[in-house]
Amino acid sequence: MIKSNTILSILFIVVTLFSCSKQTQKVTSEIVELGAMELLLSKMTLEEKIGQMTQYNGFWDATGPVPEEGSSMEKYNDLKNGRVGSLLNVSGVDEVRKLQEIAVNETRLGIPLIFGLDVIHGHKTLAPIPLGEVASWDLEAIEKSARMAAEEASARGINWTFAPMVDITRDARWGRVMEGAGEDPFLGSLVGKARVRGFQGNDLSKNNTLAATAKHFAGYGFAESGRDYNAADVGSVTLFNTILPPFKACIDVDVATVMNSFNTLNGIPATGDTYLQRDILKGEWGFKGFVISDWGSAGEMVAHGFAKDLKDAAIIAANAGSDMDMESYAYIRHLAEAIEEGSVPIKYVDDAVIRILKIKEALGLFEDPFRYCDKERENSLPYHKDHAALVRDIAKKSIVLLKNEDALLPLKKDQKNILVIGDLAQDKNSPLGSWRIGSDDNTAISVNEGLENKSVSFSYEPGPTLISEPATFIKEVVINNEDKSGFDEAVNKAKSADVIIMVLGEHGFQSGEGRSRTELGFPGFQQQLLEAVHAVNQNIVLVVMSGRPLILNWADEHVPAILETWQLGTETGNAIADVLFGDYNPSGKLPMCFPRSVGQLPLYYNKLNTGRPGPSDMVFWSHYGDESNEPLYPFGYGLSYTKYEYSNLSVTKDGTNNILVSIDVKNVGNFEGEEVVQLYIRDVVASVARPIKELKGFEKVSINPGSVQTVKFKVTKNELGFFNTNGKFVFEAGNFEIMVGPNSVELEKKTIEL
Ligand code: GLC
Repeated sequence: MIKSNTILSILFIVVTLFSCSKQTQKVTSEIVELGAMELLLSKMTLEEKIGQMTQYNGFWDATGPVPEEGSSMEKYNDLKNGRVGSLLNVSGVDEVRKLQEIAVNETRLGIPLIFGLDVIHGHKTLAPIPLGEVASWDLEAIEKSARMAAEEASARGINWTFAPMVDITRDARWGRVMEGAGEDPFLGSLVGKARVRGFQGNDLSKNNTLAATAKHFAGYGFAESGRDYNAADVGSVTLFNTILPPFKACIDVDVATVMNSFNTLNGIPATGDTYLQRDILKGEWGFKGFVISDWGSAGEMVAHGFAKDLKDAAIIAANAGSDMDMESYAYIRHLAEAIEEGSVPIKYVDDAVIRILKIKEALGLFEDPFRYCDKERENSLPYHKDHAALVRDIAKKSIVLLKNEDALLPLKKDQKNILVIGDLAQDKNSPLGSWRIGSDDNTAISVNEGLENKSVSFSYEPGPTLISEPATFIKEVVINNEDKSGFDEAVNKAKSADVIIMVLGEHGFQSGEGRSRTELGFPGFQQQLLEAVHAVNQNIVLVVMSGRPLILNWADEHVPAILETWQLGTETGNAIADVLFGDYNPSGKLPMCFPRSVGQLPLYYNKLNTGRPGPSDMVFWSHYGDESNEPLYPFGYGLSYTKYEYSNLSVTKDGTNNILVSIDVKNVGNFEGEEVVQLYIRDVVASVARPIKELKGFEKVSINPGSVQTVKFKVTKNELGFFNTNGKFVFEAGNFEIMVGPNSVELEKKTIEL
């Protein structure tokens, strides 16, 4: 139920029917409780209803002259005639106000627009990319990050973000792994909730909150071969136990909208999937918000071979429960005709429109359409200094220490003769990631600036440039594979350095939408440079920047210290310097495993055992002849500058079949640190083959050197049950393995029977 504390003007219309007879006067009074929105709906023409179901991209700078010809004029006329319900990619109070004034003052009914934007990990001030944030396993920090994003975006007139993306994925080739929460549905569900709460706050009608969007519904992260927009084919057990739970989690915390996805799921384009949108989302789950299509996805059903033309696409999408059409023009051009000819029942249109109106009402847009157009907020909030501190905090918590041989890290601030190598070390743009649409280019603190801010003295050799043309959101990144300038200088300088910090990785636009890769090593000359430097000086700290797991086999074998730093957003350099020089003891844990080879993909920890788990002396077991089955770094993995010892695992059950777990964690090193203690279960025998382990709990605890923390978990049927092949949630008694540890591999285990 979408909560709304706007002034819901409930109109009581007493329809009193008097039927008189000699003896009695029978009064039938039917009190019809009509909301304001239902009343508004009753006044709308079909054209105006279809207008509410139409979202256009920002088609002109509204603070400039009105469009005079072409598609923009067509869209402008739609806007003036009440045939537009929403705009996306518009921001800035002046721009938003101007457009809202047209909708409110120049159309017949004055229905306000809702303004949407991809506020994915910040707006002006950028947090780490979502996959990086999740590596913090700090749900409170993740919620605060979304809250900050909402403050900044709403200050610029935005009411609605197309986030959180909650697509589970197991394939690092897919560029959009950077946007989600990784491979696990339990973690993905909790993160999705935290982000929705952060964006929506506790009152959508406040002008510092955003309507959130759970996307992309559904199965987008299972694109075959990791190729974006590709078909997804999954069985019901994977659909119900892996793909859907994060969406249901967002519904449970009242996410305002859901975005469907480009892909076919088992042959049906999600935008035209009645089972997904009507049976599950609106039916079984009782979702009361509205569904927005992804960009053009309604019209793309023609390319899918699922609709014969745009009108057919409009019919299919409307009947399937896709309420608002983003930029395919299917509804605005064909839905009226479809309704008049009876191909789409008007009740579907009315249902879509009332859902949309109620979200606008919940946002307070009817009460005050200019609520989000506050110049003072716009001038004070974006890039607010408190936001820099906030994103720096979550950025340092997102860094994962993958290796630290002989405690090379942390470095001392007075360390002499440090050489920094790598084009990415000076890059102020790439660390913003690909979804920085609301921010400004080159606003990241670079690694070099981070060291300077710490008054660390160092020299710098960029080596060859990573890209040979400026990279943008829409173009293929052109990696420099020709010009080795700087290579020899870097290698020569390395010979005399005491410590070398190499900053290598992907460019920020090498991951994100439309950014699939078949090779997951360091692009360009970087791997060559790493090996050449290593040949002359092995004292290397490798700082990896990436939007996805990369293949780090060579580095793992040769380089003494490795940090995964994702793309950390605005405070990148300061956060990395905090960790490099010990001002923060790294606590990040991987939300996705790092493969040894692309050939292993899709790869994930919560796999089935198979009938031949092996190993065996013969070849007849589930394995590769040329590669391990295991990742290089597993799900949940991350080191610390200190060490933790786990002991005294206790697993008991209470009177109501809950499992009570406790374990002692001791900090046996010299640094105070935070440890993410993880709980996994295995349902050993069930009516559906279950994974060899599933994350069902975690706690991030801070432990001082020499201290012991006893961490407790309670495991209920909710954590022990699963969806069977009919999508029914069941708990089946039997043996359960309970495992606790610092990652998904190093686990203390006990078995209990329920
Ligand atoms: C894009 C993305 C979607 C985004 C939308 C609006 O194609 O798939 O995640 O929210 O279009 O930019």
